[in-house]
Amino acid sequence: MDSNDVSADLAHVLYTKEQIQDKIAELAVQIDRDYEGRDILVVGVLKGAVMVMADLARALHSHVNMDWMAVSSYGSGTTSSGVVRILKDLDTDLMGKHVLIVEDIIDSGLTLSWLKSNLISRGPASVEICTLLRKPEAAKVEIDVKYVGFDCPNEFVVGYGLDFSEKYRNLDFIGTLAPHVYQ
Ligand code: XMP
Ligand code: MG
Repeated sequence: MDSNDVSADLAHVLYTKEQIQDKIAELAVQIDRDYEGRDILVVGVLKGAVMVMADLARALHSHVNMDWMAVSSYGSGTTSSGVVRILKDLDTDLMGKHVLIVEDIIDSGLTLSWLKSNLISRGPASVEICTLLRKPEAAKVEIDVKYVGFDCPNEFVVGYGLDFSEKYRNLDFIGTLAPHVYQ
């Protein structure tokens, strides 16, 4: 490891590359079974869900179309306000489609609960959610998440798509930041 190695900025590894890949394979089996005979439109939420999307889509055997959305929560800093603005909308008409929203992490759940209702209003046949990580706070909002990879500790996590100031997204594992990085 050289002095510029990003993994040196992490305090703890929460989920290794192998654990993440095994979990995604497990979720894909479940999803293939549930959607048997139906095409799936997977909707990735930029930018965090890029890694999960790439690996999940390749693990699925169903017919899959991929599309992307970018949203931003109004409000300051690290807490979500629940008021969401669409930065990049889908290219796909959702009418009659089976939509599976793919997320990296659900924290308060406010962003996703807004997104789910927004997509439902476009007339799809179904809308479900798959998230790799879910924080305990998410349990407080009424949001039905069908596929969850890991229920994770209530700490700020990075890696595998998740960032701190746009860094660490490229790590193939997920961990917590060492204090020297944010102090
Ligand atoms: P909600 O609305 O569920 O927002 O509170 C979820 C979004 O917040 C971001 N988020 C994180 N990003 N590490 C990150 O890199 C974290 O620990 C974390 N917790 C929440 C993320 O963008 C997610 O989509
Ligand atoms: Mg995200």
